[in-house]
Amino acid sequence: MSKDSSKPIGHPEDAGNAGSLEIVRDVPHVPDGTARARHNPLAGAPLVMETREPWEQRFGAKVPLEVEIGFGYGNFLLEHAARNPGIGLVGFEIRRFLVEHVERRAKKLGLENIAVLRGDARRLLPALFGARQLQAVHILFPDPWWKKRHKRRRLVDGSFVRLLHGLLEPGGTVQLRTDVLEYGEAMISTFEDGSGLFQNLEAPRSFSHENPLSVPSNRERRYLEAGTPVYRLLYRKAG
Ligand SMILES: C[S@@+](CC[C@H](N)C(=O)[O-])C[C@H]1O[C@@H](n2cnc3c(N)ncnc32)[C@H](O)[C@@H]1O
Repeated sequence: MSKDSSKPIGHPEDAGNAGSLEIVRDVPHVPDGTARARHNPLAGAPLVMETREPWEQRFGAKVPLEVEIGFGYGNFLLEHAARNPGIGLVGFEIRRFLVEHVERRAKKLGLENIAVLRGDARRLLPALFGARQLQAVHILFPDPWWKKRHKRRRLVDGSFVRLLHGLLEPGGTVQLRTDVLEYGEAMISTFEDGSGLFQNLEAPRSFSHENPLSVPSNRERRYLEAGTPVYRLLYRKAG
């Protein structure tokens, strides 16, 4: 197990000490909290890397790989990793302060099966993983981007679903949760668009009745306490 497995990689300042990773392009850093970052947090995030992270080296063995996208304050990431010591869990988050927060907590908890990275998962995933390399992907409460003109910024769209299909091993799963019914329904339409890439493990076009993985995210804890409905989906890669 590598000692600094919870160290975020991909920061421009990490160039040269990130193992085989080589950053080939970055955009100027947009500090969290600025008007530009609030307007579009993805503006400061994209990092593109040339070489693939040697995950076996990172996690000290060939372990099943799982990914969480947009882990926020990290409750799901940390607890899921703690409950499943046999997996390697790679978290992506675009906000620097959250990456640093979760990195500190992972270190405190002694969790060595976590790697946290700062950047736009849509760009980093194809750079860091090969075809059929992932066992599971977790997407909990992705930003809903309410305004009509911002909806194209939503994480879950057709090209993203095709990307996940390519990266997942046969039978690999994607779990999604949202409090926004309309986004949940849009996710169903995107995953179940007739192409047969994914199978809804509950039933066609249905939200899951049970929480597929009981570990709540930070946001979900608040919703559960307040009685806000949460819409959950669990898909398995078909074919
Ligand atoms: C609404 S929050 C949910 C956080 C957490 N999953 C939870 O349930 O508490 C969505 C998070 O996704 C992150 N995010 C949005 N787009 C992303 C992307 N393309 N790649 C990585 N993280 C992203 C945001 O910075 C934000 O922290």
